[in-house]
Amino acid sequence: MSVPAAIQERAAWLRSEIERHNHAYYVLDAPTIPDVEYDRLFRELQALEHDYPALLTADSPTQRVGAAPLKAFPPAVHGVPMLSLNNAFEAAEVEAFDQRVRDALGTIVAVDYAAEPKFDGLAISLTYEDGVFVRGATRGDGTTGEEVTPNLRTLRDIPLRLCGTGWPVRLEVRGEVLMFKADFDRLNEKQRERGDKLFANPRNAAAGSLRQLDSRITAARPLSFFAYGVGAGGEALDARTHAEILDRLVAWGFPVAAERLVVQGVRGLLGYFEQIGQRRASLPYDIDGVVYKVNRLDWQDALGFVSRAPRFAIAHKFPAEEAMTTVLGIDVQVGRTGAITPVARLQPVFVGGVTVTNATLHNEDEVRRKDVRVGDTVIVRRAGDVIPEVVSVVLDRRPMRDLVTPLHEPWSLLSHYPVCPECSSAIVRGEDEAVARCSGGLFCPAQRKQALLHFAARRAMDIEGLGDKLVDQLVDAGLVHTPADLYRLDVATLSGLERMAEKSATNLVAAIEKSRQTTLARFVFALGIRNVGEATARDLARHFGDLEALMAANSDALQAVPDVGPVVAASIAAFFAEAHNREVIAGLRAAGISWPTVQPVAESAQAFIGKTFVLTGTLPTLKRDDAKAMIEAAGGKVAGSVSKKTDYVVAGEEAGSKLEKAVELGIAVIDEAALIELLTQGVNA
Ligand code: IVH
Repeated sequence: MSVPAAIQERAAWLRSEIERHNHAYYVLDAPTIPDVEYDRLFRELQALEHDYPALLTADSPTQRVGAAPLKAFPPAVHGVPMLSLNNAFEAAEVEAFDQRVRDALGTIVAVDYAAEPKFDGLAISLTYEDGVFVRGATRGDGTTGEEVTPNLRTLRDIPLRLCGTGWPVRLEVRGEVLMFKADFDRLNEKQRERGDKLFANPRNAAAGSLRQLDSRITAARPLSFFAYGVGAGGEALDARTHAEILDRLVAWGFPVAAERLVVQGVRGLLGYFEQIGQRRASLPYDIDGVVYKVNRLDWQDALGFVSRAPRFAIAHKFPAEEAMTTVLGIDVQVGRTGAITPVARLQPVFVGGVTVTNATLHNEDEVRRKDVRVGDTVIVRRAGDVIPEVVSVVLDRRPMRDLVTPLHEPWSLLSHYPVCPECSSAIVRGEDEAVARCSGGLFCPAQRKQALLHFAARRAMDIEGLGDKLVDQLVDAGLVHTPADLYRLDVATLSGLERMAEKSATNLVAAIEKSRQTTLARFVFALGIRNVGEATARDLARHFGDLEALMAANSDALQAVPDVGPVVAASIAAFFAEAHNREVIAGLRAAGISWPTVQPVAESAQAFIGKTFVLTGTLPTLKRDDAKAMIEAAGGKVAGSVSKKTDYVVAGEEAGSKLEKAVELGIAVIDEAALIELLTQGVNA
């Protein structure tokens, strides 16, 4: 059946429209049309292809849903081999690399390098013929990989047809398939709900998802792609640098790391490593290092290869985040709310750049699920600043005899800890709760210590210098029972403690003194009410305006606060119903803790709506964040610089150029006291 020209045109238009929206959504992260509209275009194309099968082409976006299962992956020979990279772990190795490059090039000036993240996924090669995606393959042994074209076609960010112009007739694009951290979490959540096997990490999930004989399974998995180079066809590009190649890949529609940068010399390389290291945790995908490539392509050619790795590039890897070690014992820790956390005591092991001796096992169910036993060999993970955790047991390494010796029985909380190890109170575990808790409350020294540390934390009462070693001593010596006791400490008592000189004791007393002046939000957060984090504390303070109203509120009144549901309301009410807690609060107020009163939102009705403030200098009592939160709570905006649109400049000590600018523009300048008055009375009152 021949296809009418008008239909052919319509199908071609639909295809290019859909791919344009795919690119905007998946590559640029900037959706151009609503989902329903996209779906409508998609269904129209599907219907046309159904009515006119001759229309169907391999590059049609409808083919991204996966195809019938294969029996095996055919072999695919790469046009240009896919090489590996040599690794560097230390700055000295990077310096040596740069030295080798300069020696070989005979240059003494700093070399330009293209630096980019080293994606932790799997390498693939995509072949385009006349701008159409025809074949995709895994790296395999570097020469021959497995052809996984139908699977790769399901990745929305791989262009099926190149945009723009200037590509060679045959082009191999090289890059990495990976899974974003958030997609990985969602996928594992789904796997858990369905009772399916969980993936250990995004890399494994990506590899497992790509190597599916049934590409419809791949289509259902959230895979992503980043391009980092070209293979065959590269020589025809007439590009001068690697950075130019990456820019072309962007123009042709490929996702390329936004973090790429051209840097100069070894200092540039190490600076880049440092900078990406700091951003690592906040990147949406896993990386295991960075890659440096000599930017000039003629220099790359001149440098060439040694065996299977280029001389012009190197991978600078982060310290491994996972390592193997043995479990020496399983202890528990008691948290601020009494939560009992099992902790594995480990044979010390170097992981994530530090030596780790303890790793959390989260809770009893996790210990059972992972079946961690004393004596086991385990994989420990420490990523960024996250608490080290036991990922899994290496069962192959569990000695046969250990399966029968009593020492290595499955671990259970109650058999090891019938009562709280800190205070001997009963340990209870609610029916639907994963966490077991010590019922000792503030009678339990462990909970008391944690409660004090929380009280003093920077975002709570902000008492600098009150760390865990000191809290241990204060509680153990019976000097401090409740937070109110902190305000009775004096320099003489404190300097008698270990590691406290008179100077540090004086500083601490000053810090405690300073914390007397605070905000209601900080105070409520500092109390450590279960389920009340910083944001909820701020909402509560904003809603009730004073502590008495909050303490008197019943569950209904509490639930009138945005984001406070029955569970949070119940923990707040339970906290204030406890006589002991009310006594501690009374003690704190008697110790002189106070905060500026702010009218509750309901009454002042967003007094600052439409008003813009600029804060400058140091305010006498309010911290800048607090002042900002209070202004925003009243509906105002806080800007970073003074302009004609500014309504008020709040100036404290050592206010600088912003104050001058305000005076110059004739903008109202107020101090902290006036700000608080405005907050209480409203701008127009
Ligand atoms: S370039 C000739 N750039 O690292 C150089 N590789 O050992 C070819 N990788 O499995 C590699 N991110 O898939 C390059 N930005 C990046 C990379 C990268 C990850 C992987 C690559 C290969 C391994 C090389």
